[in-house]
Amino acid sequence: MNNFDYLILTRTLHVIGVVTWIGGVAFVTTVLIPSLKKITDTNNRLELFEQLEGKFSLQARIATLVTGISGYYMLDFLNAWDRYQHLQFWWMHLMTFIWAIFTIVLFVLEPLFLHRWFREQAAKDSDNAFAWLHRMHNILLTLSIIAVAGAVAGSHGYQF
Ligand code: HEM
Repeated sequence: MNNFDYLILTRTLHVIGVVTWIGGVAFVTTVLIPSLKKITDTNNRLELFEQLEGKFSLQARIATLVTGISGYYMLDFLNAWDRYQHLQFWWMHLMTFIWAIFTIVLFVLEPLFLHRWFREQAAKDSDNAFAWLHRMHNILLTLSIIAVAGAVAGSHGYQF
């Protein structure tokens, strides 16, 4: 394999990482949380959420790592670090920003306190806690979709 083949392989891994990760976020946001909000037994609602999202969180962690490592490799290969200095590459900033947020949430905040904090909030006022959770997921999903659209157009030559 020559260097160019490595770039193609890395791009493929990057997109597989993005699809399994952002696709999962889309499912949680548009299907799982709205269905959970309809469950009236609040203990059951929390338990189901923890079981299902807990399983997704391992997948999301692996996908975040694969996406980040492949993204770094491509940036280095393309010697494209200076894109961060140009506003026309806003999609590079947005991709990296989304990656950073998810990395902090999945690897730092969730194990340290977010999981416990959400449990406490859901015990106090389940409707409110799930409404907040839904809002956060909606914001992150919207930003992720904008990043995907910008990245596909931008990396295939569209000049913003
Ligand atoms: C540290 C984080 C990331 C870095 C360093 C990174 C870097 C890169 C680089 C260098 C490219 C290739 C650009 C080109 O060929 O001109 C790329 C493509 C792409 N990235 Fe990222 N990325 C990161 C995270 C993300 C995230 C979080 C998403 C999704 C929300 C994403 C979605 C994409 C997509 C869809 C493409 C275009 C693939 C194609 O159509 O060929 N990336 N990324």
